Amino acid sequence: MDVLRSAVLLFAASAVASPALLPRQASTVTVTQVASAPAPTATAWNSGAVDEFTIHSSCNNTEAAQIKKGLGETLILVRHARDHILRFGNSSEIYQKYFGNASTGEPIGWYTKIADGNKADLLFRCDDPDSNCGQEGWAGHWRGENATSETVICPLSYEVRKPLEALCGFGWDVANGKTNFYWASDLLHRLLHVPTVGEGIVEHYAEDYAEVIELAQTESSLSVRDSDTLQLFALEAYAHDISIPGEGCAGNLSSAEAASATDTPSPTLSEEPSATSAAPAECHTHADGVVHCS
Ligand SMILES: *[C@@H]1O[C@H](CO)[C@@H](O)[C@H](O)[C@H]1NC(C)=O
Ligand SMILES: *[C@@H]1O[C@H](CO)[C@@H](O)[C@H](O)[C@H]1NC(C)=O
Ligand SMILES: *[C@@H]1O[C@H](CO)[C@@H](O)[C@H](O)[C@H]1NC(C)=O
Ligand SMILES: *[C@@H]1O[C@H](CO)[C@@H](O)[C@H](O)[C@H]1NC(C)=O
Ligand SMILES: *[C@@H]1O[C@H](CO)[C@@H](O)[C@H](O)[C@H]1NC(C)=O
Repeated sequence: MDVLRSAVLLFAASAVASPALLPRQASTVTVTQVASAPAPTATAWNSGAVDEFTIHSSCNNTEAAQIKKGLGETLILVRHARDHILRFGNSSEIYQKYFGNASTGEPIGWYTKIADGNKADLLFRCDDPDSNCGQEGWAGHWRGENATSETVICPLSYEVRKPLEALCGFGWDVANGKTNFYWASDLLHRLLHVPTVGEGIVEHYAEDYAEVIELAQTESSLSVRDSDTLQLFALEAYAHDISIPGEGCAGNLSSAEAASATDTPSPTLSEEPSATSAAPAECHTHADGVVHCS
């Protein structure tokens, strides 16, 4: 009962030191101090926590350095997304654009989980244990039932991914650009597929930007757990708040993109006459085992 005793002593001391204080106020102050006094002391509850992603020994120094930097950028991206929501809540226009009228707790939770959660077993590797990297356009994949917490990064990634500092550069904008243009959002996507991160709840409920925007208006309870929505919101918030403050690079969906978005039923990659067709088709495995090329 040391705490109690020092509280009493504190109260007595302050009463003596400043007799001008009203007793009621003095006691209020004392209560506040007592509440903050018992800091959670060393109970080792957190021992064994893993704060860093694991990069497998199959990655050479160059590869490991780039993956580590990319993952660091993912953390910067998700921390900012969370902080933007914590600061502005659903009054943010960017929030309303992507999450509609949904409550803020769920997206804050997913972002926080990646930013500050335990990273045990979240492994990134560079060998090609499932022999997928040789396939045209594969920049990485989730190992699925072969190892649910493992992600393979293929050599193509080092050629095509851009750093977070380049957000809004290269003519990229949120509406028309691909989310896997940047290491930060590509790795965010891959992390959300890992069951211990996305819990099988974060999934693909919308296929592209147009559907993400529509989902926010029609079924926002799915927006807050949609993989693309979580990536796009984070990119737009970062672009608007950090990359080009007050402006960002939201962009407007070009009519070519909008048109291709409306005739969705064909999953084939038709020869689009647009500039984006120059980019290689990139493939990865989804949590349900479905292979997705974009
Ligand atoms: C924002 O959240 C409040 C509750 O905190 C709710 O009353 C309000 O309708 C929400 N606004 C929008 C635009 O979703
Ligand atoms: C898992 O391993 C099997 C056998 O090597 C392979 O056929 C399959 O493609 C692998 N799964 C993934 C998601 O790579
Ligand atoms: C690391 O691996 C990459 C292939 O992903 C290769 O291009 C590079 O030369 C290797 N770096 C070193 C230092 O061995
Ligand atoms: C949110 O919007 C949806 C339509 O998008 C509507 O069905 C739902 O009632 C709204 N919820 C709230 C709390 O306003
Ligand atoms: C997008 O369209 C709106 C309305 O048509 C316009 O005000 C805005 O300047 C456009 N933004 C860009 C980046 O083109």
